[in-house]
Formats: sequence, structure tokens, C-alpha cells
Amino acid sequence: MRTIIAGNWKMHKDLQGAIDLVDALLSGSKDMPAGPAVVIAPAFPFLGIAVERTRGSRIAVAAQNCHQAAQGAYTGEVSVPMLKSLGVSHCIVGHSERRQYFGETDAAVGEKIGALLEHGITPIYCCGERKEEREGGRHFDVVGTQLKAALGGLAPDRIGRIIVAYEPVWAIGTGLTATAQQAQDMHAHIRSLLGTHGDVVAREVPILYGGSCNPKNAEELFACPDVNGGLIGGAALIAEQFLDLVRIAQLVKHLN
Ligand code: 13P
Repeated sequence: MRTIIAGNWKMHKDLQGAIDLVDALLSGSKDMPAGPAVVIAPAFPFLGIAVERTRGSRIAVAAQNCHQAAQGAYTGEVSVPMLKSLGVSHCIVGHSERRQYFGETDAAVGEKIGALLEHGITPIYCCGERKEEREGGRHFDVVGTQLKAALGGLAPDRIGRIIVAYEPVWAIGTGLTATAQQAQDMHAHIRSLLGTHGDVVAREVPILYGGSCNPKNAEELFACPDVNGGLIGGAALIAEQFLDLVRIAQLVKHLN
């Protein structure tokens, strides 16, 4: 199973800040053993420059969102063919911040995943329950419903090309983290749901953990058998921390 460390920069950094972070990651990751795949997701205006600077390196570039239509009168939106033309290889979809602040629905997320796969861009599909849903014991059902809505219409060979990120909403940017047991239980649940689309899907789709993951708690989380890496927010903005997470994933997943 692949291990992936992905950084979601959200709406942070200006042009110079983005360049500095990309360059720090490039120089810091040069001599690292080639275990985990490394993905960074800067904001839209910096995708082109990130792709150019990382070309030929181990760092892949993701967008944080896309529109499902190939083109059209959708002011302010960015299409999948636009991302493709820049050389972007991955795209985060369905992040809880997009669902919460921009009204993104499961159905729209499903369409975005379809559009990305059609153009050969790997979707990083986010799912996760809110605090009250976990407290009410509904977390497995909530995540199951999200997965079904997003993936239900896709053929198994397409589902096998996505990356799933489990991001409990109550853990995002809060300093609270799922315990290793909570993460493992949910990741195993997601893997069993993926298995309904075929054994290959369950075996090949990486499931990343996201939510206040940092170098202090990563070892325990990455050691879970069904956690295949992380989707990192705050700690992805500091080169040393993000590189530490890559090193930890390397140690936990590839040396034992
Ligand atoms: P934090 O790591 O800042 O909690 O953010 C996680 C996240 O939302 C990544 O997509």
C-alpha cells in the first residue's frame, strides 16, 4: 500500500511565502529516502509556480477544489481541464470547510470526482463527521453515507484511483486529534465500505488521516494498519514540521 503525506495549505501564504515554502520542501526532501509520496496543495494562484518548481522532484501538486463542469459561465470557478493544463496531478474534493462555508453537497462532490478521474487527476476525497454526530454515536453512519453519495455512481476501476482522507471535523484546526484507536476504527470501516466495490479497491485505495496531525502525534496515528498517511493542515505550513511528518511516515511505514 502506498503511503502519502499531503499538505493542504488552505487560504494561507502569498506569492513569496508560497515560493519560499516550496523551495524549503524541495531542498529538505532531496536526500530523503523515497518512501512516502509527498503532495502539496497551495492556493489556486500559486499552482503554476509550484508545478514548475517541483518538476522532476518527488513533490506532486494538488488543487484544493475544482468545478465539475469542463468550462462555462461560472464566474470565479476553476475547471479540471484548467488544472490539467497547469500540470496539477491531484485535487482535494469535499473538504469539510467547503461543505460548511460554501454549501458543497455530496452530489456535487461526486460530480467533481467524476470530472477529475476523466482527466486523469487523482481526487483526494475528504469525509468525516461533526462533533455532535460523533457524540451521538452516528459517526460510522455519517461517513458511510458520505462515501456512498460520492462514490456510488463510479465504476470500481475508477474508485480504485482515488485517495480517501478521513478528517473528523471536530479535529480540524482545533488541536484535538482522533485517538489512534478512533482513527483505526474509522479507517477500517471506510476500507470495508470500499471493499463493497471490490477487493482491489479495498486493497489499493490509500486512506489518509487529517485533523491536527503534527510531528508529536503522527507516529501513533501512522502506526495504525489502515492509516496510509496524512492530510495535513497547520503543520504543512512549516517546512520543518511537514518534512518531519514525511520522515515519521517513512520510519513507521517503510522500515518495519
Ligand atoms: P489541521 O491539520 O490544521 O487540523 O487541518 C487538517 C485539514 O483540514 C487538512 O485538510
